[in-house]
Amino acid sequence: MEFTNQSKCICLALVLMLGDWSSEATSRSFNDAFAYGRYEQWIARYGRVYNDIKEKEDRFNIFKENEAFIDTSNNDGNKLYKLSLNQFADLTNEEFIASRNRFKGHECSTKTTTFKYENATVPATMDWRKKGAVTPVKDQGQCGSCWAFSAVGAMEGITQITTGKLISLSEQELVDCDVQGEDQGCSGGFMDDAFQFVIQNHGINTEANYPYTAGNSTCNAKEEAGHAATITGYEDVPANSESALLKAVANQPISVAIDASGSNFQFYSSGVFTGTCGTDLDHGVTAVGYGVSADGTKYWLVKNSWGAQWGEEGYIRMQRDVAAPAGLCGIALQASYPIA
Ligand SMILES: *[C@@H]1O[C@H](CO)[C@@H](O)[C@H](O)[C@H]1NC(C)=O
Ligand SMILES: *[C@@H]1O[C@H](CO)[C@@H](O)[C@H](O)[C@H]1NC(C)=O
Repeated sequence: MEFTNQSKCICLALVLMLGDWSSEATSRSFNDAFAYGRYEQWIARYGRVYNDIKEKEDRFNIFKENEAFIDTSNNDGNKLYKLSLNQFADLTNEEFIASRNRFKGHECSTKTTTFKYENATVPATMDWRKKGAVTPVKDQGQCGSCWAFSAVGAMEGITQITTGKLISLSEQELVDCDVQGEDQGCSGGFMDDAFQFVIQNHGINTEANYPYTAGNSTCNAKEEAGHAATITGYEDVPANSESALLKAVANQPISVAIDASGSNFQFYSSGVFTGTCGTDLDHGVTAVGYGVSADGTKYWLVKNSWGAQWGEEGYIRMQRDVAAPAGLCGIALQASYPIA
């Protein structure tokens, strides 16, 4: 299963639709036929291509289950967020997790650092996008490189804040070249180790010079030697404290680890996410602000790396100041930031 060229796929989907219809219509229930129509529309929209009718049928069954899950959630008037049949609609939750989330949560962090924002004052709201410190949403594809996107988002932020220049930086350099330590390219890694790599490498190249390929490749030493930005250090935000995280996000975009394994996270579409969530950290993202919604719900503004079609144009607003010290989905457990 692959994401492929849109124009080619629409044609292919049409051919399959015609071929399918006569034989399928007789054996399908009325409701199923309507569901199949929605499935065909979804296939065309997301340019999905299946190897054969069997795979297409199997994926249809998953699609139907996901659609039922989404409808049930969206019909619950008490929920502050909506789900949608996004690009992950034909994946089971297990497949979804296996193909994307690869932050390797440390059991416990032994590193003790100072927290430079300990006494920082915090404005009521913050949106680093409005301050020009956030690049457009990127897409990690089917590669467990979330850790690289999370770290790059924080480095792009601090670089813009200190130099005034917003430069899209290279995740692929981290995927390919940061392999001497614990980071493992598409098989996962840590944001702090990515910062460590950039410090030792004396910088990181641009996205343009070292573009993303969504796969492991050998390190391009020439591009690795090109430095568009650099950092001198990094610090961890004290864990289990959303107020500490607030002080940090008030001052720069912050790398955070979350548990993004739930189906409601998979299909998040809009609103303030208040869904049930664990704290088994498996995904790296970048917190780029915070605020309060119209109905008074406090949220973190989080940049994801699943493309602009997911969530609110690639972002999710996650409930802030929850009862659990770890924060929703463990957002306050392993936050960290680079120092220019
Ligand atoms: C925060 O304030 C306390 C008390 O004045 C001081 O001891 C501490 O060094 C300050 N922390 C930072 C990071 O500036
Ligand atoms: C990617 O490369 C890393 C580092 O060499 C390796 O540990 C990992 O298994 C590779 N992952 C895949 C999916 O090829």
